[in-house]
Amino acid sequence: MKDWVINLTVVLADGTVIKTRRRPRKSSAGYNLNGLFVGSEGTLGLVTEATLKLAVVPEEFSVAVVTFPTIRDAASAAAEVMQTGVPIAAMEIMDEVQMKVVNLGGATAPRLWKEMPTLFFKFAGTKASVKENIARVQAITKNNKGSNFEFAKDLREQKLLWSARKESLWSMLSLRKEGEEVWSTDVAVPFSRLADIIEVSKKEMDDLGLFASILGHIGDGNFHESIIYNRTKKEELDKVEKCVKNMVKRALDMEGTCTGEHSIGWGKKDSLLLEVGPDTLGVMKQIKAALDPLWIMNPGKIMDLP
Ligand SMILES: *[C@@H]1O[C@H](CO)[C@@H](O)[C@H](O)[C@H]1NC(C)=O
Ligand SMILES: *[C@@H]1O[C@H](CO)[C@@H](O)[C@H](O)[C@H]1NC(C)=O
Repeated sequence: MKDWVINLTVVLADGTVIKTRRRPRKSSAGYNLNGLFVGSEGTLGLVTEATLKLAVVPEEFSVAVVTFPTIRDAASAAAEVMQTGVPIAAMEIMDEVQMKVVNLGGATAPRLWKEMPTLFFKFAGTKASVKENIARVQAITKNNKGSNFEFAKDLREQKLLWSARKESLWSMLSLRKEGEEVWSTDVAVPFSRLADIIEVSKKEMDDLGLFASILGHIGDGNFHESIIYNRTKKEELDKVEKCVKNMVKRALDMEGTCTGEHSIGWGKKDSLLLEVGPDTLGVMKQIKAALDPLWIMNPGKIMDLP
């Protein structure tokens, strides 16, 4: 989102209404307030209007799906695609558990998916470039033990191939039974560490003995763990929390971030401190204090009340 916002109307804590205004492609006029307000989780002001950039609608789209023997192979292929610089519109990963979840959910029936680690690709551009990029991705995935490469021949197939990705969250939520919750959390790391962190995190998650899966926006180095646990059982909650904390710690050790898109909220305040350190967190606190001295904007999120 931060890359698409050009202007916001924001109501500040004292009632002042401001516009951030950065209409041209570039501007070096003062601080980048768009960047400050986007992702501030409502702690600095209320956004009441947003003006976004428009993008050119590409001439051609396509979608491809590839399976891999292990999640590590899938993540390595994804990293190689990014590091080679093949232009793709989106790249998503789902592990074998998540593919099974989609099959169980039945939302994409009658199609049944191979229950293997899977990458989903979206291509956009001219007809010629889409064709070329599909061929390049096909070669890279093959090199990383990818197989069952399928690409959509028309709009209907595109929708069908992408549907598993679209339905994944809902399919997971629909599996909850009495007293169960889904703990869904994310981290992001540089591409060079993607395969490492996904492999180790998946192993630790599988060892919990709970129903758990990995999926994510792997084209951004960002992935999610979704774990179903019984919220009435303290020991289950504790072990899930420990597993998530370990994943965050691992991401930070790899120069990653404790959250790619879910943000800090209540749950990751400790992780934010670990990630940026006390001095940087101190600057964030000063910004918060300057804009919201009475602490009325979403209090307690991102950082503790003073
Ligand atoms: C933001 O500024 C642009 C350029 O001046 C203007 O076109 C747009 O309507 C403004 N948006 C809002 C939300 O005020
Ligand atoms: C969750 O735990 C409670 C006991 O704490 C139990 O009654 C309930 O059946 C459990 N739910 C499932 C789906 O196992």
